[in-house]
Order: sequence, then C-alpha cells, then structure tokens
Amino acid sequence: MMIQICKTRLLLASVLLLMLQTSQAALLLGDDKKGKQVHDQRCVKCHNSSVYTRNPRQVQSIEGLMGRVEMCNNQLELSLDKKQLDDITSYLNKAFYKFEN
Ligand code: HEC
Repeated sequence: MMIQICKTRLLLASVLLLMLQTSQAALLLGDDKKGKQVHDQRCVKCHNSSVYTRNPRQVQSIEGLMGRVEMCNNQLELSLDKKQLDDITSYLNKAFYKFEN
C-alpha cells in the first residue's frame, strides 16, 4: 500500500516536471518561415527590421519579445491569431534577437 502511494507520487512528480520542461520549450514552437511571411506583409509598414537590431533595443528577453509582438497585434488591431504571433516571434528570434530558449 505504502509503496503504491510512493509510486503514484513519483509518477505525479515526473509528470509535473515534464509539463514544466515542455512548457518552457514551448515558448518558441512557432514556424519561423510562416512567421516571416506574415511579418513581411503586416509588420513593415512603420519600421523595417533595423528596429530589431538597433542599439539599445527595447526587447531584452524572449518573454519580452512575445509580449511586444502581442502588444503590437492588439494596438494595431492586426487580428493575428495566437499561432501567427508564435510564428512571428520565432522568426524574429531566429533572425534577429537570438535569445536562448
Ligand atoms: C503602426 C506602426 C507599427 C506597426 C504596423 C508595427 N510596429 Fe513594431 N514598432 C513600432 C514603433 C513606433 C516601434 C518603436 C517604439 C519605440 O521606439 O518606443 C516599434 C517597435 C517594435 C519592436 C521592438 C524593437 C526593439 O527595440 O527591440 C518590435 C519587436 C516590434 N515593433 C514588432 C512588431 C511586429 C511583430 C509587428 C507586426 C505584428 C509590428 N511591430 C508592427 C510601430 C509599429
């Protein structure tokens, strides 16, 4: 009986750990090639990509980048969906920001 409980706990702990790991890895699950397409159609009206490499640049982390892309989408009412935002974030990180994730 005791052993059974221990096993369940261990299983629960490893499932939690796995969820934690995958949620972190899931930060950048977007498709950067699709992201580039959407980006090049929708995001270059006001600034070209030199804004992503300016010094100092505003965005300093992967979370910041995700937030920024989402904020632009909301403010500009571009109506991009979550998947498209993920794609754009992946593209921007791969091409310009290069944060570890
Ligand atoms: C209506 C004009 C406009 C459009 C369209 C626009 N942006 Fe921006 N964006 C700005 C301005 C202005 C800044 C600079 C803000 C500042 O310097 O305070 C900026 C800055 C940024 C930055 C931060 C750069 C840094 O310093 O690290 C990111 C990232 C960004 N935009 C992403 C996007 C994405 C992604 C889209 C498309 C979904 C987009 N923008 C569309 C106006 C726009």
